[in-house]
Amino acid sequence: MITKIEKITEESLLKSVELLKSGEVIGIPTETVYGLGAVGTMPSAVKKIFEVKGRPADNPLIAHVHKDYDLNKLVYIEHDYVYELLKAYTPGPLTLVFKSKKVVCEEATCGGETLAVRIPSHKGCQSLLKLLDMPLVAPSANLSKHTSPVTAQHVYNDLDGKIPLILDGGKCSGGIESTVLDVTEKVPRILRAGLITKEMVEKVVGACLIAEHKEGDKVKSPGVKYKHYQPKCQTALFSREQIEEIKKEYKKYKEQNKIPFIMCDSDMAKNFEGYNLLNLGETEEEIARNLYEKLLEGEKIADIIIAVEMPNEKGIYLGITNRLKKSCG
Ligand code: TXA
Ligand code: MG
Repeated sequence: MITKIEKITEESLLKSVELLKSGEVIGIPTETVYGLGAVGTMPSAVKKIFEVKGRPADNPLIAHVHKDYDLNKLVYIEHDYVYELLKAYTPGPLTLVFKSKKVVCEEATCGGETLAVRIPSHKGCQSLLKLLDMPLVAPSANLSKHTSPVTAQHVYNDLDGKIPLILDGGKCSGGIESTVLDVTEKVPRILRAGLITKEMVEKVVGACLIAEHKEGDKVKSPGVKYKHYQPKCQTALFSREQIEEIKKEYKKYKEQNKIPFIMCDSDMAKNFEGYNLLNLGETEEEIARNLYEKLLEGEKIADIIIAVEMPNEKGIYLGITNRLKKSCG
């Protein structure tokens, strides 16, 4: 199969809808990462997503809908705080987990009682969802375990020959996946940290829990138990105090005639003048936006990415730290 990359135009949007309705899966832009979309009510199309990605069959998908889509068609909204969250943070990088009405097929929810729903803010994606007027289920558009894609070219690098079309909506502005928030109980609970932070949810709802996943737990968000986000080169993760150890590790690889790169934020980078650097930037937003792009750049030019932990785990840093530990830890 030939995989085309097409910029978002009226024509490419119409072609996308036609492909989706005929049961194909295609690459789509969102404001977080690129997705691999299929119509959520078509079991055969949804199965293709799992095949194309090599995704474990017990890891459910998120249904994406247009901002004017009536969520009551898909799920039961059981708590009033949900309306406040919708008003404050959608369209945007927030995924809500509800009790499902089972309109979206069980191949997408992996037979579970709940459905994760997201209203992306990316303009091109909204246009597509409006034209489609059906729930579009989509995981990130990478091969399972690999780093998530934030450009159309990244999607192509992983899925060339496996899908007919990638809609090119530019580089993702968010850079890490949406926050997954369970809203089936009295107090919302973060299942996957992201750009909508615990503090932001608390501001609107008054309270917010964070799910803790211990080994052996029956996890509520299956995705968090798998290896994830890994670049194709070697990786290591160091704390901010370990500057000397990082320099030693770097030297060790140099002496083996290998190419090490240090990946860290601008502040940390001041300690490594003259070293090969993947600089993630300064603010937490900037670091999130650059993280996957730098990992994917790094895997091409480095034998090892030596990553440095973030200054704390507050706000967006929590989501960044979670990705750093899984990709480089
Ligand atoms: O930003 C995003 O969320 C991107 C873009 C494409 O929208 N999508 C994405 O999908 O990251 P994926 O499949 O890579 O991750 C979905 C996460 C997984 O951790 C999965 O376990 C969780 O959401 N999830 C999906 N449905 C769920 C459900 N019913 N209950 C709990 N967790 C669920
Ligand atoms: Mg993913």
